[in-house]
Amino acid sequence: MPSLIVIDHPLVQHKLTLMRKRETSTRSFRNLVSEVSMLLAYEATRDLPLVYQDVETPLGSLRAPLLEGKKVVIVSILRAGDGLLDGILDILPSARVGHLGLYRDPVTLGAIEYYVKLPNELESRDIIIVDSMLATGNTAVAAVDRIQQSGPKSVKFVCLMAAREGIAHFHEVHPEVPLYTAAVDEHLNEQGYIVPGLGDAGDRMFGTK
Ligand code: URA
Repeated sequence: MPSLIVIDHPLVQHKLTLMRKRETSTRSFRNLVSEVSMLLAYEATRDLPLVYQDVETPLGSLRAPLLEGKKVVIVSILRAGDGLLDGILDILPSARVGHLGLYRDPVTLGAIEYYVKLPNELESRDIIIVDSMLATGNTAVAAVDRIQQSGPKSVKFVCLMAAREGIAHFHEVHPEVPLYTAAVDEHLNEQGYIVPGLGDAGDRMFGTK
């Protein structure tokens, strides 16, 4: 059963509305992406496994939980996934980071790979792939295809916003990958942008338009 987790926490929803506003500045947009991505990552890491260790506090001892296993890997899809990295690394400071360069062919809207740099030992790690928007779902599918070639322990996908048809496509190909997002919008325009969405996330976070 494909899993879609829409983070409806009021703080996330409030911040997302500010991000949608046309008049929100690059600086504010960037800060908001960072805050929202931290909250999304908090939910996406809810089921990380724990191990128990004997710990001495100043007043006593107990068996206390710590994260188990190798460091989580965050894979950012260039370029707009990079905007989510700061916020996520604030709560997962030891995470390893990979990058996947995928751009959308403007005519076919298919994903074309141009860069890959990933940490080692992916087969024993939990992977969280991050991108700003899941629109057609083609890029997200291509990213998961690429990461699954390394046989990781687990894969999740986190994005700020997703379109309903993109989610359907994504889960048709990868029903095993949980998808975390702050919003589901209804449709895509002819250029493959989410409507109403928030515009071009990369341009808005990097001030390139
Ligand atoms: N990428 C964006 O930046 N915005 C969209 O709406 C869709 C894809």
